[in-house]
Amino acid sequence: MDILIKGNTKLSGEVEISSAKNSILPILAASILSSEPVTIHKVPLIKDVFIIAEILETLGLQLEWKQQDITISGLAFSTHPPFDLVRQIRASFLLMGPLLAKYGKARIAFPGGCAIGHRPIDLHLKGLQRLGASIHLTAGDVMATAQRLYGAHIYLDYPSVGATENLIMAASIAEGTSYIENAAREPEIVDLANFINAMGGKISGAGTGLITIEGVKKLSGVEYQAIPDRIEAGTYMVAVAATSGNALIKNVIPEHVKAVSAKLMETGAVIEEEKNQLWVQGSQEVQPVYIKTLPYPGFPTDMQAQMMAYLSRGKGSSIISESVFENRFMHVPELKRMGAKIRIEGRTSVIEGKSRLTGTTVKASDLRAGAALVIAGMMADGITMVKDHQHVERGYENLAQKLNLMGAEIHYRDSPGQAL
Ligand code: UD1
Repeated sequence: MDILIKGNTKLSGEVEISSAKNSILPILAASILSSEPVTIHKVPLIKDVFIIAEILETLGLQLEWKQQDITISGLAFSTHPPFDLVRQIRASFLLMGPLLAKYGKARIAFPGGCAIGHRPIDLHLKGLQRLGASIHLTAGDVMATAQRLYGAHIYLDYPSVGATENLIMAASIAEGTSYIENAAREPEIVDLANFINAMGGKISGAGTGLITIEGVKKLSGVEYQAIPDRIEAGTYMVAVAATSGNALIKNVIPEHVKAVSAKLMETGAVIEEEKNQLWVQGSQEVQPVYIKTLPYPGFPTDMQAQMMAYLSRGKGSSIISESVFENRFMHVPELKRMGAKIRIEGRTSVIEGKSRLTGTTVKASDLRAGAALVIAGMMADGITMVKDHQHVERGYENLAQKLNLMGAEIHYRDSPGQAL
């Protein structure tokens, strides 16, 4: 699927942020743990959510959608999700912890998802072994079994978001107390813990480096709504700044986007925070900045590509150092095709700035790279075609519609009568 973006637009007005994709995915996985129906409100209607939902159904759970609310009930008759679905989304590996804890076994293909470098699962597996699981690796699958999981002390070599989530879920109905040290501190971890606690779990310390999970016998039903998507919010903030626009971002927790706000302000943008919303006003002159991606509360790797598109029009050279993922500069050649002057030195990109981007045909290699190209398209002269836009649809609910309501001119290429 391709989209066409008319350049030189200025975003204004307001945009409402959806629930966080990266909360909803583990929350849907954790619903497996419950013995009673679980309802999640305001679920974003995006591809990644549909895939996890489909996986749950193929396992035997019943899913009932009412507009954006989803109720999950029943029991799984399989603990072996289908390869074709699992390969589409890395977050499907989050089913490992809950399936193992509830059913004593799980067999899952090595995860797929965004092509952003080597994404191992060793920390997930080591942690599950500490909880008492036996792990067998075959050519394409991971098989885990355990009669019972037991509370344990787990130290993560790196504060992996996915490993922390898998281990929280597995430990929540294990026998005894578990401690996860050097745990990831992302807001989505806190959201998952709040969700499990709302079902009767006993998790404390989420949001800090030490999470304590007292295993409980069973988890019960709940109605829950996830936090706003801080990466979606950050993407709109950068888009507004990049187009020298002025807009209100609604349904955002300003604390969760602090790292992005701070960098945008350093570039000259004005950010005004209110309780659950914030104003962004872009400036004509963009000051160059230095950014290093880090685990939360550092600058999010998921905002790196969008920020790079913006910095291409900086007054001087900016530097972005990617410390979280090995190979996450796939957007660079595409931005260069549009006229950005960027060079990569190992895991660092030097963005020379002073570039006037020109619309051309570019390709979205992954979700956030695609979002960056959409931003670049709005900044550019002329028309940009973003090919493989389906990557963007994986994580942004109604991206084109939301941007168009703010003054962008974005159209799906294959919609008849919508040529620019
Ligand atoms: C999650 C997010 C993703 C975000 C990332 C980092 C979801 C669904 N996805 O991905 O959007 O970009 O956090 O904020 O929430 N690692 C290992 N061994 C492991 C696990 C991870 O070495 O067992 C490494 C990875 O290769 C990577 C780093 O740790 O270099 C961070 O990965 P991790 O925090 O696990 O990210 P995800 O949970 O995959």
